[in-house]
Formats: sequence, C-alpha cells, structure tokens
Amino acid sequence: MNKSDYVSVAAEIVKEAGAVVEHYYERRPEIEYKGKSDLVTVADRASEKLVVEKLRARFPNHGIIGEEGSNLDIDADYCWYIDPIDGTTNFAHGYPLFNVSLGLAYKGEIVAGVVYDPIHKECFTAEKGSGAYLNNRKIQVSSTPGIEQGLFATGFPSARRPEISLNLYFFHQVSMLTHGTRRAGSAALDLCFVACGRLDGFWEFGLNSWDAAAGILMVTEAGGTVSDMHGSPYQLGGVDLVVTNGSVHGELLELFAELFQGKYRVPLPVAGAWE
Ligand code: IPD
Ligand code: CA
Repeated sequence: MNKSDYVSVAAEIVKEAGAVVEHYYERRPEIEYKGKSDLVTVADRASEKLVVEKLRARFPNHGIIGEEGSNLDIDADYCWYIDPIDGTTNFAHGYPLFNVSLGLAYKGEIVAGVVYDPIHKECFTAEKGSGAYLNNRKIQVSSTPGIEQGLFATGFPSARRPEISLNLYFFHQVSMLTHGTRRAGSAALDLCFVACGRLDGFWEFGLNSWDAAAGILMVTEAGGTVSDMHGSPYQLGGVDLVVTNGSVHGELLELFAELFQGKYRVPLPVAGAWE
C-alpha cells in the first residue's frame, strides 16, 4: 500500500466518524467531565471507537494513540494519532466548529493527515511531499507580508486553568499589533485555516499530539512554516507551537521573544479605561 492510500482510507474513515459526530450534535448529548474544564461526551467515545475499529481492520500492524484512551502498539513504525472530536467544548455547547482529526506518523515523522469538519463538509488532506488539499482542491498559505496585515489565532488548553495564563499577554499583544486574534476552540481547524490562507498564523501552549499531528503537516505541505515559539523545530506534543505562512514567521518570533522577556506584561488598565 503506498502513502496516498493511507490518505484516502483516512479520509473515508473521518467522514464516517464525522457522520456519527453530526448525529449526536443534533441531539446535544450530556456533558461529562474528564477534569474541571475538560469536557467529553458520548460522541467523542463513539467517534474514537469507530475510527479505531476501521483503522485496525485496514492496518492491523499500525499503532494507535487516541485522545479518549486508545493506546495500541504505540512502538510500531506507523502510528495514528486520533482526535475523535477536536473542539469538544464547541461541540458540547452547540457551537458549530469542530472536527475529526487523524495524523499518521512513520518512525515519528508525520507523513499523512486528514481533518474533517462535518458541519461545513470540509475535508482537509495532506500527504508528505504531495501538497495539501481542501475537498480535493490544492491549497496554499497566504502571501501576507507582515504581522500588521495579518489575522491570527490561538487557543488555551482545555485541561488546565491557571490563575493567569501567560498566553493572555501573547493574545493581547498580537491582537493590538495585527488585524486580530481569533480563539475559535478547534486547534486542528486553526492549523488548516493557516494552510488554506484564511489565517496568517496560529500559536498555542501545551497542545496535545492528537490536536496537532494532522494540522501541522497541512501547514508545511501548503508552504507554511512550523516551529516552537523560540524558532527551534517543533516536536509533536512539545510545550509550544507556532505556525505561519512563512513570510511573517520571523516577525512573530521576535514579538514572542519580547513577550518571553516580559516586555509587555503590563498591569490591567484601571476601571473605565476600556478602550
Ligand atoms: C482543544 C481544542 C482547543 C485548544 C485546546 C485543545 P479538544 O481540543 O483544540 O482549540 O485550544 O488546547 O485541547 O479538547 O476539544 O480535543
Ligand atoms: Ca478531542
């Protein structure tokens, strides 16, 4: 089986899982808690079960790591990262932005990725060395030259709620210096939106490997740049991630370096100074 077959099989599977997720979405299933602010529903588990069964049937020797607890042959050369619903909080509240995400690593390197948004019927696919596609049409990152003209996105980990998040300073400063920062609640779609030029960059602290695996391949295959927030290569499951269209990467990293040094950690404005 060659690599393209992995992408087409994965695309079939995420669409089936997406139909299951959509079925539950219309019924607004009960919210359960994995942690204080980390939600899960019957749909997350049903989607993961379907994906695992289908992958095992097609690729019995491949490993599997899934957000809802699947851990099978994780030392195999090929290993699938499954996010059965990326954007569970959106899903659980009836906010229509979530997806099923599947990334395939070969000896630790991501070689295929598929992200399916069942509400908007958008299927993003990428195979290493063969480009990235949205519903079978080739996509590429934006040509925005500088951060001042750019639109960005970030996220905040569902599982952690610190008293004050360092990322609030990043969120504030990027928002003030650019066209804005979106916090849509679905990291895999944020990454795909950079890949297809709807966003110029995205960053997040503490992303899990299943949130990022498929989406980062989408960005590199669409001509974008992926690194950690200090400019070093990003390792799956690493502490921080930034992706951009490439043109704005250096400028964004310079701003992040200033933020890490504490430059913009100003106190909150006094009451009334809301503008
Ligand atoms: C979450 C979303 C969110 C991101 C969180 C993720 P989940 O994934 O992608 O946008 O900010 O870090 O955990 O929990 O809905 O699969
Ligand atoms: Ca999830």
